[in-house]
Amino acid sequence: MGRYGPNLHDVLIVGGGGAGLRAAIAVAETDPNLSVAVVSKVYPMRSHTVSAEGGAAAVIKPDDSLDEHAYDTISGGDWMCDQDAVEAFVKEAPEEMIQLEHWGCPWSREEDGSIAVRPFGGMVKKRTWFAADKTGFHMLHSMFQTTLKYDPIRRYDEYFVTSLLVDDGRCQGVVALELSTGKIEAIGARSVILCTGGCGNVFPFTTNANIKTGDGMAMAYRTGVALKDMEFVQYHPTGLPFTGILITEAARAEGGYLLNKENYRYLQDYDLGVPEEKPVLRSMELGPRDRLSQAFVKELEKGRTFEGPYGPFVHLDVRHLGKDVIEEKIPFVRELCRKYENIDPVHEMIPVRPVVHYMMGGIDTDINSSTSLPGLFAAGEAACVSINGANRLGSNSLTELLVFGARAGISAAEFASKQQKPSNKLEALANDERKRIEKKYFSGYAKKSERISVIRKEMHQTMERGAGIYRTEASLKNSRSKIRELQERLDSCSIRDETFTFNTELIAAIELSYMLDVAESIIESALNRTESRGSHQREDHPERDDQNFLVHSLAYRAEKESPRVEYKPVTITRWPPGERKYG
Ligand code: FUM
Repeated sequence: MGRYGPNLHDVLIVGGGGAGLRAAIAVAETDPNLSVAVVSKVYPMRSHTVSAEGGAAAVIKPDDSLDEHAYDTISGGDWMCDQDAVEAFVKEAPEEMIQLEHWGCPWSREEDGSIAVRPFGGMVKKRTWFAADKTGFHMLHSMFQTTLKYDPIRRYDEYFVTSLLVDDGRCQGVVALELSTGKIEAIGARSVILCTGGCGNVFPFTTNANIKTGDGMAMAYRTGVALKDMEFVQYHPTGLPFTGILITEAARAEGGYLLNKENYRYLQDYDLGVPEEKPVLRSMELGPRDRLSQAFVKELEKGRTFEGPYGPFVHLDVRHLGKDVIEEKIPFVRELCRKYENIDPVHEMIPVRPVVHYMMGGIDTDINSSTSLPGLFAAGEAACVSINGANRLGSNSLTELLVFGARAGISAAEFASKQQKPSNKLEALANDERKRIEKKYFSGYAKKSERISVIRKEMHQTMERGAGIYRTEASLKNSRSKIRELQERLDSCSIRDETFTFNTELIAAIELSYMLDVAESIIESALNRTESRGSHQREDHPERDDQNFLVHSLAYRAEKESPRVEYKPVTITRWPPGERKYG
C-alpha cells in the first residue's frame, strides 16, 4: 500500500540492482514519511550487480589522493568525463564504501586488518576494494538486507515496466506488467528513478545477464529525454569464448599474463609498457580496457590469435600465481573455468576474448541525477552523468552506483516532497498502454510471420559487424539501415503464446523493441562522431579531434526517422585535455 492507496507512491524506482537499492535507502533516510516503490523485473538479488566480480574503487590508503583518482578516471575516459561529476564522485566514494561496510559488506582485509585494495586497469594507485572476487554479490546483499529494515519501501518483484507515465509535463509513474498474472496496471508516483542498468544484449557476445536490455534507456528516450554518449561501448578484454562470462580483471591485477598463440605477451607491442614479473600499475595487462581490446583485434589481424569453435581467442595465464593465491584472491575465476570451460586455471591457461561489458553512455543526467523531464531521475549504468567518458576504468562503476544512486534518491525525494499527489489520469493512460500492447503484439496473428528470435539474431550480427570495436562510416550506415528495417519488421512479429502467466515471449518482444531503439542511438551517435576516442574507434577517422569533438553527443528520438544528434560541451574544471600515457 502506498501513502495514497494501492499503487500510489511518493518515489518509484525502476530496477532492484545496486543503484536502485542504494537510491531506495537514500529516499527512506531523507524522509521516513515518503513511500518508496522498487519495481523490478527480477527479484532484486538476481539483478546484474550480483555478478560484478573484481571490486569497487575509492581512495582509502595514505599514499593515494582524490586528485589521483580523478586524474586516472579523466585520462582513462579520454577527457570525455565531466570533471565536476568526477570530483564529486571521488570525494563521496570513500564515505559510501565505509557506509557499506557498516551495512555488512565483508570487504577483504590486509594482514593488519585494514581494508585490502588491489590494482585495477588504468589506475596509478591500488584503490580497488574487493570481497574476494564476488564483490557485486556482497554489495548487493548488504544493500538488500538494509532495505528490509525500512517499512516505507515496498517491492514490486517480477513486475516488468512497459512505459513511463507522463502527464502535465512531468513523470508520474510507470505502467507495469505483473509477470505472474499478466495484469497491466499503473503505478503512480511523484517522482521516478530509472536504475535499469545497461544494454549489453544489443550485442551478441556480452558479459551482461540476459535481463540487461536497455529498458530504462529506451523508455526515457521515448519520452523525449536524450541518450548521451551512446557511441562509447566498452569491451572487456577477458571474457570466456562461447558464454561471454567475465574473467575478472582481478586475475590480471594479481599477476595474470595475456599471451598470443606464439606464447608472447603481445601487449608490449601496443604502447602499454614492457613485461615485468609482478604487475606494474597502468602498464601491460593493467592498461585500460579500450586499449587492451583494441590490441586483441590487431593481434587477430596479424594472425596471432587462436581459432576456436566460438571464434578467436588468446590465453590468460595465471598458473604462476599458484593454487593458494588463486584460491584466496580469485576463487570464482577457478570455479567459472571449471564449470564453463572444463579447465583448471591452476594448471591450464584460460581462453579469453574481448566481450561487450558496459555502456559509458546512457540517459542524460546532471550531477544530481535529474533528467530533462521533470520528475524523472536516473542512476547507475542506465545513466550518463558522466564520470566514465569514452572509456570507464574497471571498478569505478560499482562505486558510481553507490554515489549516484544515493544522489538520485535524495534528489527524487526532494522533488516528490514539493509535488501534488499523482494525477488521476494515470489509470486512463495505463489503459491506453494496455491497448497499445495488445494491438502491437497480439492482433492479426494469422498475417504476421516474423519471429522475435530471428530479428534479435540479425540485430546482434548487425551491431557486432557495424558498431563493434572498430567502425567506419560504411559499416555504421549499413547497420543504420538494417536496424531501421528490423524495427519495421518487429511490427509484423506475432506472439504465439497468448497466455497470461509468465509470458516470456511477450517480455522478449518488448525487450527487443527497447534494444532496437537503443541500437539506433548507438549507431547514429557513432556515425556522427568522426574522430577516434577511447572505446569509439573510427578506422576512417583514426585521430582524436578535441577541436570539434570535445563534446557530449545527445541522441533524441525521431519517429520513423534516424535520431537527431546534438552536442553539449564537456565540463573541464582542473585537468585540460592531454595525452593518455600508459606503461
Ligand atoms: O573485471 C572486473 O572485475 C570488472 C569490473 C568492472 O567492470 O568494474
